[in-house]
Amino acid sequence: MPPVDSEFAFDLPVPASRPRSGLAAALLAWYDGHRRRLPWRADPGVAADPYRVWLSEIMLQQTTVATVLSRFGRFLDRFPTVIALANAPIEDVLAEWAGLGYYARARNLHACARAVAAKGGRFPDTVEGLAKLPGIGGYTAGAIGAIAFGRPVAAVDGNVERVVSRLYRIAESMPQAKPEIRDLAQSLVPADRPGDFAQAMMDLGATICLPRGPLCGRCPVARWCDGAATGDAALYPVKAEKAERPTRLGTAYVAIRGRDGAVLLRRRPPRACWAA
Ligand code: ADE
Repeated sequence: MPPVDSEFAFDLPVPASRPRSGLAAALLAWYDGHRRRLPWRADPGVAADPYRVWLSEIMLQQTTVATVLSRFGRFLDRFPTVIALANAPIEDVLAEWAGLGYYARARNLHACARAVAAKGGRFPDTVEGLAKLPGIGGYTAGAIGAIAFGRPVAAVDGNVERVVSRLYRIAESMPQAKPEIRDLAQSLVPADRPGDFAQAMMDLGATICLPRGPLCGRCPVARWCDGAATGDAALYPVKAEKAERPTRLGTAYVAIRGRDGAVLLRRRPPRACWAA
């Protein structure tokens, strides 16, 4: 194959597997110039405060960056350390959590703070240790491990899944493709600055590798991306075909949300029959 010297080339045949050496360095260089300035982030190359990283990750599980930005400072003023959070009454934590998503998360947040406080107020510095804490799953343990403790682990959320599935044009559909994507994401993590790499992947997914219209012409890793080379990045990740829905006929229905069993209720208009 001829050497690729342009930024990226759409019409080159894409080999089955291309080495990605150089990708991490290019992404980190882009991050240094383009990263989002967020209050839980440290400067490039500097270890971040585990309490802030943990808090931001839990908040971001259910809420947009914009909402977290508007609430993060206030939460920290109220509970400046993990010990302060652990010692606060749960009612105060729930009140401060209003608008930030499910209260179950806030309860887990409090339980986690108490578990950390019980061990002297230091978060575990390994992914395994972090994953044992209440409310911390695989993604969050990876994110905190990498960002706060410099562990060379991938933090794979939906954004990162999208980036990786395009880099490799993963043919398998979601969610079956998840383990392959996770392994490939891990293979990209550099030994140097893994926390910045994790955040650079997040920023790439949020600002360049967009769900509907990936901006391949501005992407710092397009030259390593099979999707950009082929011009079909937007087709990835491949979605599972929707199962055909049966048509059901009936007179009355009860709508129950699968996730948590919530029942849909609607107030009837004021002048309707059985008005509330
Ligand atoms: N989404 C989840 N974690 C994030 C982080 N640390 N920075 C920006 N967006 C995120």
